[in-house]
Amino acid sequence: MAAGFGRQPCTPNLQVVAIQGNRVRIGVLGCGNVGAAFVQLVSRQTDSIEARTGVRLEVTRVAVRNVSREREVDLAPGVLVRDAHGVVDDPEVDVVVEVIGGIEPARELIATALGKGKPVVTANKELLANVGTELFAAADAAGVDLLFEAAVAGGIPLIRALRESLRGEPIRRVLGIVNGTTNFILTKMTEQGADYSAALSEAQRLGFAERDPTADVEGFDAGAKAAIIATISFGAKVVAGDVYHEGISGVGAADIAMATRLGYVVKLLAICEQDPLTREVAVRVHPAMVPKQHPLASVRESYNAVFVEGDAVGSLMFYGRGAGGLPTASAVLGDVIDAAVNLRQGTHGSLGTFTRAVIRPIDQTSSEYLLSLDVADRPGVLHAVTGVFAHNDVSIRAAEQEGLRDDARLVFITHQAKEASVQACVRELRDLDVVKRVGSLLRVIGA
Ligand code: HSE
Repeated sequence: MAAGFGRQPCTPNLQVVAIQGNRVRIGVLGCGNVGAAFVQLVSRQTDSIEARTGVRLEVTRVAVRNVSREREVDLAPGVLVRDAHGVVDDPEVDVVVEVIGGIEPARELIATALGKGKPVVTANKELLANVGTELFAAADAAGVDLLFEAAVAGGIPLIRALRESLRGEPIRRVLGIVNGTTNFILTKMTEQGADYSAALSEAQRLGFAERDPTADVEGFDAGAKAAIIATISFGAKVVAGDVYHEGISGVGAADIAMATRLGYVVKLLAICEQDPLTREVAVRVHPAMVPKQHPLASVRESYNAVFVEGDAVGSLMFYGRGAGGLPTASAVLGDVIDAAVNLRQGTHGSLGTFTRAVIRPIDQTSSEYLLSLDVADRPGVLHAVTGVFAHNDVSIRAAEQEGLRDDARLVFITHQAKEASVQACVRELRDLDVVKRVGSLLRVIGA
């Protein structure tokens, strides 16, 4: 069904694409994994989509950098072109699909397409996490759709649920695993005892991780997705720069082993929260220990899962493939069908307007924490260490001690505490003579 929320008629006086018959012609910018899979899905499902929606989709242009490269898609002569701007301008293109990624020229191409009254479907999280609300406004002004289901959690229909089904829900928190690469690596570390670099190499060998894995393993990819989720969930503009992020490159085999022994699983979580009273928004991405009974703990390999906590609806969980050509192309295709149906009906879905979110910085957020310390094993040490927790107002929920010859390893799990207090505690512990090493500090979520 076409994007129905906030349905708006097309704005008069704008050049609106004239659809002939039931044919809707698609110009695709980019033909990598997702672009190629999208072209295959359209050709495989043209007839069934027409039977169900009355719209006959046809890919008329595909812009690529290298037209002579061998490709898995079968395209009619003249479809593959080099000039992306030409595709946007082409009168043979009614709807534009942008799967090239990055900020420019994607931003300019999308703005131009919208200005010409052409709906756009994009999978570009980086772009939307930076200038999404500006582009949503441009789409509204042009009276056409800008749809982006594929930008967050690949094939999982999360954005549509947030913007349509849950439109009446005050969303309190969205919490999830939104990066498949890091989930694959953490799964290998947990289940095979692999260290980080071995698990990363395996992910690269199997094609889950890029040769330069920085965007995934340092949390940039998940951070961009979190910014988009927060914007849509809270109706307030959140950009990538507002998101606190830590990746998984600092998570060691010892952290994973300790988490396992204590009944937890380490996951890279994206957490978007809004304070119901102050309306402040906190968005962060970091590794976290999740109790092994929590549904997110059983999300393995490259799968994604997102928990949405609403006021009336309670908790919902969305699960599926968050990456990969076909799952992501499936999300693109769903959006293209909605955009095509809306275009034929002269309508579009509107996200409304966004105010700038008031961001709560990370040091003002609260969590439970696990902290491990190697200390001298002699009288008074525990007293000195717990004193540091006490005067920083950090309450200890559980503690254990393990002997290490003349030293001892202390592991503490705190009650909910302010990040700033815990960081102050860590700084002070580092300065204590009896503390030999301050080990991992991991947040505990979902206890
Ligand atoms: N690289 C991402 C992931 C998929 O591993 O989940 C695209 O955002």
